[in-house]
Amino acid sequence: MVSPRLYELGTLSVLVASRSAWELSHGITYLDPSSPVSRNLQIGGYQGLEERWLLEKSLRIPNLPGSSSCMRLSKLLAPSFAQQLLAQVQSQSYAVDNDSVDGLPSFEYYPMINGTWSDEELGKLLQPMVQELILPYVRSRYSCEECTVAEILVRRYLSEERRTHNLHFDGHAYATVVLGLTPPDEYEGGLYIQPTPHSNSRRFVQLEPGDLFVHSFDLQHGVRLWSGSRYSLIFWIKSSPAAVATGTTPWYHRSAAEGDPDAMYNLAGQFLQGIEGEVDVMEALMCGCKIGKVSFCIMEGQSFG
Ligand SMILES: [Fe+2]
Repeated sequence: MVSPRLYELGTLSVLVASRSAWELSHGITYLDPSSPVSRNLQIGGYQGLEERWLLEKSLRIPNLPGSSSCMRLSKLLAPSFAQQLLAQVQSQSYAVDNDSVDGLPSFEYYPMINGTWSDEELGKLLQPMVQELILPYVRSRYSCEECTVAEILVRRYLSEERRTHNLHFDGHAYATVVLGLTPPDEYEGGLYIQPTPHSNSRRFVQLEPGDLFVHSFDLQHGVRLWSGSRYSLIFWIKSSPAAVATGTTPWYHRSAAEGDPDAMYNLAGQFLQGIEGEVDVMEALMCGCKIGKVSFCIMEGQSFG
């Protein structure tokens, strides 16, 4: 059973939308535009730019080998297409059931659930992009020939509704693709990644309408807005059609068995939700502490430096 304290922490940070002392003194820091590996990208009829950042896992856990990566794909989609999507999704009604990260109203809208379109009209607009751009890119980038879209959702951040989405992994998605819909000059803040346990490593991601941001399950990220409103379209991708059909996360099993802390932590999260099989929850929670999930350190009575 997860401690209610987890939810208290989440609630506090959602309600307190003002800037911390650190943020006031440092401002918003964006992903370093000078550090990515860039290349021109052509996928079918789509052409644009891929910027790729590599983030060493040893930044979170000393001596842990490997890296996470994130990519921004820009100029592949016309801004007018993003405008059309934005108008379409703004007219929908958004769910206010409990969010899986903080337990507060989610303000989400799902055009696709378990691989099936629930919004046929939006599906007609999105299907060509999904089949001809998103899936070919993800399958190639992650060497995952069977990768399949499981869910598509819209998240909205309006000033009277939601200002944050706390730091988290997308534990149920092998890869995540975020499509920017709102022009970045209409809000302050936005999507960020955090490669270390400390919030001073947060790097915000500037997404023009139509830009895509792609990351895998092992990159912690969140959203924080200080002003304005923001809509984003999110594609959660699983490693196979079978994983979509069963709602499972088979890509964790081998890595978790080999002791990979991210895989163990995410697999434990699935277990706690009743989705995946047996795991050593206490060991996995300690991995959560090690990878910088402060709430889990509090649960375990650990100090966190
Ligand atoms: Fe997420």
